[in-house]
Amino acid sequence: MSKPADADGPRQPSSRVTLSDPLPFPSELPPGYETMDDEPRFDAGRHLAFSAPARTWTLGDFGYDRNTIDASPSPVAVAGPFRVLSDEGVQATQGVARRLGKFSRLSQRTANYLAGGAYRSRFLRDLFRAPELVDFLSRVAGTPLAPHSMPSQQVYVNYAPEDITRHVDTWHTDSIGFDIVLMVTDPATIKGGEFQFFRGTREEAAGLLATPTGGLIRGSNVELPAARVEAVKFPSPGYALFQQGNLVLHRATRLLERGERITMVPGFVARDTRFMDPTNVGSIVDWGEPGLAAELARHKAWLARGRLDALIDGLPLSTAPREAAAALRRAVADVHDMAALLERQGDNDAVTPSAGRNAPTAR
Ligand SMILES: [Fe+2]
Repeated sequence: MSKPADADGPRQPSSRVTLSDPLPFPSELPPGYETMDDEPRFDAGRHLAFSAPARTWTLGDFGYDRNTIDASPSPVAVAGPFRVLSDEGVQATQGVARRLGKFSRLSQRTANYLAGGAYRSRFLRDLFRAPELVDFLSRVAGTPLAPHSMPSQQVYVNYAPEDITRHVDTWHTDSIGFDIVLMVTDPATIKGGEFQFFRGTREEAAGLLATPTGGLIRGSNVELPAARVEAVKFPSPGYALFQQGNLVLHRATRLLERGERITMVPGFVARDTRFMDPTNVGSIVDWGEPGLAAELARHKAWLARGRLDALIDGLPLSTAPREAAAALRRAVADVHDMAALLERQGDNDAVTPSAGRNAPTAR
């Protein structure tokens, strides 16, 4: 049986870096999705406007140890807020978000969210795949990024729940490595609905929430010590916060009065594929969204291609046979693991289809 890519501990990247190109967007839509017609056409020059992050917290600031820091291509835990949308970009994005609201659904954790935004909206797809945006975020992250290699992860839209006694999103870590939380509606018009993050490690958070670290993706309503919690003040719509979401515990609190609160959460991957994959495929495989099996297969194939390219570029000709074999196995280990996971999922689906089995966790 193959070893997972991280079985030997944090990867020690060589000095040679091979960057993987972003995956093209699929030419077909998964069953059940339709792209809206008569949307505004995305125009980077008119819709984007950038400002530098007001503040950056590193993984070290959060208390992460050297092993965890070295295992990530980015030293940044959280950065922001910073501006990404112009006033015209805010108007267009709000219009699209409101039209998509009728497709939102509920989960135990995220009260009211929309999946598959990149499939449903050409505008959102073009916005969050825009090279200008991805280049800007790569500078914020300190590592080259690409739109997430799983199109379903390229944008989620979170709406406030009808029942305002529920948090918009409970304390959780994300199932992907990198994302931004973009405030789409005007934060000055709502009471409550604060985006907050815990300034500490996953392990600390798990201890305080009395849950295993693996359970942090499921969400918790337990309150954390206020002195360890940062509340983010978005100056206006169109501002965003970058986070290494799998390592940062965060939530959006309940609204204190009814109001419109919409955020978008586009996801990204590191183009340097030598590092361990932060994508929580064991959770995502069970989310019941259309197209996920193929997306997961493409994602791991993309990672392996990058790792094989890096091997071709960087494996010294003096390498001994066993080391060469180990390098090959590491490059494709995730592919074997993914195939095994999908086979188990297929067996489960034969009994109960995943779309009916779970209340989706959301990201
Ligand atoms: Fe999240």
